[in-house]
Amino acid sequence: MYIYHISDIHYQPSDVEGANKLKHIISAINGNATRPDLVVITGDLVWKEHQEYYAGCFDILSTLSAPYVVISGNHDRSADLISALWQYVPSHPQPAYNLAKLNYVEDNFPVRIIGLDSFKHNVGGGELTAKDFAWLRHALEDNSECKPVVILVHQYTLPTGSGFFDAHQASWYKEFNQIVSEHADTVKLVLCGHLHNSVSSLIGGIVPIISGFSTNWGEDVLEPNKTEPNRDTLRPLAYLIHRIEGGKVSSYTVTVR
Ligand SMILES: [Fe+2]
Repeated sequence: MYIYHISDIHYQPSDVEGANKLKHIISAINGNATRPDLVVITGDLVWKEHQEYYAGCFDILSTLSAPYVVISGNHDRSADLISALWQYVPSHPQPAYNLAKLNYVEDNFPVRIIGLDSFKHNVGGGELTAKDFAWLRHALEDNSECKPVVILVHQYTLPTGSGFFDAHQASWYKEFNQIVSEHADTVKLVLCGHLHNSVSSLIGGIVPIISGFSTNWGEDVLEPNKTEPNRDTLRPLAYLIHRIEGGKVSSYTVTVR
């Protein structure tokens, strides 16, 4: 299975250059000889919780020639994103147990996709609650076939070395990493965004966690003393391809010219 991975669109109608970058990346994805089975967009579709921005964002995303799934980022108010999906992408997986949270299981592929909604208003590090964790455990353990699992969650739940992003480290990361580690037999990959560049590490020393590139701007993630974001709008555009076969994962970075 081939999962294409983009993130952090931060769509706003006034940012014409950002919209053009997204169109350019989608055109490259659509033209790749290796077809995506699924495209995942790991949060921050719009900028600063603007509900009215989803129409323009989904208008561009509708040009993807492969099915896609999204999750909430810290800029996507959950209820607004869910309403927008009902309107613009009615085939998208539905919230599993709480209509106000975009937690879902997508089981129509050889790999089970679990989407997690960590949105909390004005909190960069987001939040997963005890109910979310109980649901996640169930979604992982109701798997008698031991199907490989990919989890989508917006935040990167390990330290990055970036002063700016590590200041967002949230208390829920520990329990999340613990649950992932306990299910390392089936969880093959955790895909996230938020960092705007691609960073990878191993949760529990076993399960890869990989952040996808922002379609719009980059960030200097390796400056330990930085407290403000650094929007690098000149970074070359790129997306990731995750190939999962026989429970083995290979991840590729594809630059877009
Ligand atoms: Fe974010």
